Amino acid sequence: MKGIIFTEFLELVEDKFGFSVVDEIIEQSELPSEGIYTAVGTYNYKEMVSLVMNLQKQTDIPAITLMEVFGEHLFSRLAKLYPVFLNGVEDPIKFLMSLEDYIHVEVKKLYPEAELPSFDTELQKPDQLKMTYHSVRCLYPVAEGLIKGCFKHFESEVQITKNMITESGNKVEFIINKL
Ligand code: HEM
Repeated sequence: MKGIIFTEFLELVEDKFGFSVVDEIIEQSELPSEGIYTAVGTYNYKEMVSLVMNLQKQTDIPAITLMEVFGEHLFSRLAKLYPVFLNGVEDPIKFLMSLEDYIHVEVKKLYPEAELPSFDTELQKPDQLKMTYHSVRCLYPVAEGLIKGCFKHFESEVQITKNMITESGNKVEFIINKL
């Protein structure tokens, strides 16, 4: 997982809970990287899972909620860091439809070592999109947060229904309704 995802995560944790919590979760996670991340480096995604689990312990907030909130915040950061992907796009559904075949493809060209999920995307009605998340990393709550962050960016309301296709969460269907 790219360092930028870790640096954004730790900045958000510091913002919401303070530096002492950042320090404690790094300490408790026993990370191979020792919690030293550079934006361009690549680290095992399991470090993120450990950090989130320890943040859950520290805050008593469920890990799923923490990941969703992070995903929502992450969208606004990605939109600032890679504005090119939003250029000329006026609609969150159109944007999400370009994720699998354009945005993540370009991300992979920029960072060949990036580990990206894949999505099956199907427009069911003009305002209803079905997106099925596939990834061995099972970070579907981050995906849900990113979808919410995307609608927020476009100042649009959304209602999302999540169907767990597998118990592990490596395959999750999102029915996304633009309100
Ligand atoms: C400007 C838009 C976006 C950019 C530039 C972007 C880029 C990236 C990057 C750099 C990573 C990290 C890859 C790695 O660490 O190896 C990533 C991961 C991920 N992206 Fe995107 N992304 C964007 C939008 C989205 C949206 C809207 C969704 C959800 C529908 C999404 C879902 C995910 C998920 C869930 C991961 C975590 C990896 C996994 O689950 O396997 N991304 N993306």
